[in-house]
Amino acid sequence: MIQIRFEKPEDIAFIRSVNEQAFDSLAEAKLVDKLRLTCSEYLSLVADDNGSIVGHIMFTPVLVTGVKQKTQGMGLAPMAVLPSRQRQGTGTMLVKYSLQILREKKCPFVIVLGHPDYYPRFGFQPAFRFNIRSQWEGIPDKAFMVLFMDDNAMKNVSGVATFREEFNDPL
Ligand SMILES: CC(C)(COP(=O)(O)OP(=O)(O)OC[C@H]1O[C@@H](n2cnc3c(N)ncnc32)[C@H](O)[C@@H]1OP(=O)(O)O)[C@@H](O)C(=O)NCCC(=O)NCCS
Repeated sequence: MIQIRFEKPEDIAFIRSVNEQAFDSLAEAKLVDKLRLTCSEYLSLVADDNGSIVGHIMFTPVLVTGVKQKTQGMGLAPMAVLPSRQRQGTGTMLVKYSLQILREKKCPFVIVLGHPDYYPRFGFQPAFRFNIRSQWEGIPDKAFMVLFMDDNAMKNVSGVATFREEFNDPL
C-alpha cells in the first residue's frame, strides 16, 4: 500500500534515483539535492510503497511581484514517479496530499510549469488569465499554471512569478 509522507534523510538516495529514472536528464535530481541544501522552506514528500520510494514531489517558494505587491506562494517542481509505476494514481496522490498540507499552512497559491493536460485536474489554471507571467521567456501560456488556494489573499495579485534562483543555475 502506498503511503504519502514527508521525506526522511534516509530517503535521499532513493529520491535521487526516482528523479533520474523519471526524467531524461540528471538535472532534476541535482536540483532537488541542491534545493535541499540551499532552501529552508521546501516541502518534499515521497510515495512510499512498503518501504520502497516510488514517487517524489517538491515545492519551494515562488514570489509574484506586481506594481504594488509582492506575494509569496509555492512552486511545484519537480515531481516524478518511477516509470514502471506511472499512470497508476501515485502522482495524483502526491499532488493531492501535498496541496492539502499547503492549504493548512495557509499558502495562498501554487505555481507549476508542467503538462497542461495533467495539472488542471487539481484545479490549476493558466496563470496568464490572472496576469501572472513566468520569469522565463518562451514558456507556452497553457503550461504555466496557478492554483489559488486563498482567493482573498490573491485579490489583485498579478505580475511576474519568480522561482528560486537555483532554477536558473546550470546544473
Ligand atoms: C507526470 C507524472 C509525475 C505523473 O505521475 P503518475 O503517477 O503517472 O500520474 P497519475 O497516475 O496520478 O495520473 C496519470 C494521468 O497523468 C497523465 N499523464 C502522465 N504523464 C503525462 C504527461 N507527460 N503529459 C500529460 N499527461 C500525463 C496520464 O495521461 C493520466 O491521465 P488519465 O488519468 O486521464 O489517464 C509521471 O508521469 C512522471 O514522473 N513523468 C516523468 C517526469 C515528469 O514529466 N514530471 C512532471 C514534470 S511537470
